[in-house]
Amino acid sequence: MHAQVGIIGAGPAGLLLGHLLHLKGIDSVIVENRSQDYVIDRVRAGVLEQGTVDLMIQMGVGARLQREGLRHEGLYISFSGRRHHIDLAELTGGKAITVYGQNEVVKDLIDARIATGRPVYFEAANVSVHDIDSPRPKIRFQKDGRNQEIACDFIAGCDGFHGICRPSIPEGSIKIYEREYPFGWLGILAEAAPSSEELVYTYHERGFALFSMRSPKITRLYFQVPPAEDIGNWSDDAIWDEMLIRMTTRDGWKPNTGRILQKGVTPMRSFVAEPMRYGRMFLAGDAAHIVPPTGAKGLNLAAADVMVLAQAFARFYQQNSTQLLDQYSDICLRRVWKAQRFSWWMTSTLHRFPGETEFDYRRQLADLDYLIGSRAAMTSLAENYVGLPMDVPLV
Ligand code: FAD
Ligand code: DHB
Repeated sequence: MHAQVGIIGAGPAGLLLGHLLHLKGIDSVIVENRSQDYVIDRVRAGVLEQGTVDLMIQMGVGARLQREGLRHEGLYISFSGRRHHIDLAELTGGKAITVYGQNEVVKDLIDARIATGRPVYFEAANVSVHDIDSPRPKIRFQKDGRNQEIACDFIAGCDGFHGICRPSIPEGSIKIYEREYPFGWLGILAEAAPSSEELVYTYHERGFALFSMRSPKITRLYFQVPPAEDIGNWSDDAIWDEMLIRMTTRDGWKPNTGRILQKGVTPMRSFVAEPMRYGRMFLAGDAAHIVPPTGAKGLNLAAADVMVLAQAFARFYQQNSTQLLDQYSDICLRRVWKAQRFSWWMTSTLHRFPGETEFDYRRQLADLDYLIGSRAAMTSLAENYVGLPMDVPLV
């Protein structure tokens, strides 16, 4: 087999890249080690930046997102028992975020991929990359017990944080910047109508909590737990007790409760690999960088990366120029580091750290009190939350 671009991973990064390349007439093969159902059912992100929504619409894959996505023009920051509204749209000249599950995004993109007739292999075993610093890099894998090889012009490593692309780069050729946080998030999906139309980020003396949703009938909630917390330690009743203690405000607002449909614990990490390229292999999305989820940036960063990468491939094939490919990593990393900064700030401001002092607690409360009292501070949060400008045109 041959492909202009061999894409490893059918998460948001790989699928968006495949479709952007299709629209530009560039052929690709997508190789994914999990099954189609597994990839679609994986419950993860929910918040799409304005730019990610615009991208989906301009790519022609935004119809269901426009129908079913929940546009939010504001959010709440809650502390000391009070919710404070931040008007994202008013502070950013009309921008908003849209709540639409990552699994819905992935489902729409898989449907679009299949409709193009271009290849996507699920359940590919033993995926590996070869000759990545040569003009003809290769992807090898096994499908239904048979060995396959794809000779490519380029490889896009879109295989997430635990993938094989980044570890295939020789040691010393990329630099890693990393921070682990001393907590994780316990997250649930619940069969309960959302009791607020907008997200509520809560700072409580027992730790962070977040109210979100997926649809008019489904609530999505998280709270901070120790990093290696065993979900088995948490009965459904205990989860609801803790959610309600942290989230209930003095005016009586609290999430509606209901049957818990799914639960799990996610670790928190900041991670950047620089540069996002080795030879003819380009890393995009979580394969290159991870942010703690507090800023809701991970999926959106993946979308921003592949927008740049698709344009760079187009420039190569249409104008025989490697200029944008050579700039790919620098262009992405400028935005990635700003998202890292924002995600780190949201995380540090809203979580309790083990061993922190009374001074730290008071300082954090003052940080939040300053935030909700200052238009400048709220504008800074709002423009980062709805998404910083993309550095290239959309499609
Ligand atoms: P992935 O989604 O990880 O996709 C990589 C794909 O590669 C996967 O399908 C994987 O199966 C496949 N793969 C892995 N190894 C191989 C291999 N060896 N061979 C072939 N295929 C392979 N982000 C936001 O923007 N907003 C949010 O609100 C948000 N909330 C989150 C909440 C939680 C609980 C979590 C866990 C994450 C959240 N994120 C959020 C982050 C977001 O989910 C990720 O940043 C996003 O999935 C990155 O997309 P990706 O395509 O780069 O990687
Ligand atoms: C959701 C996840 C996040 O990480 C976040 O910051 C906001 C919302 C969600 O899953 O809905």
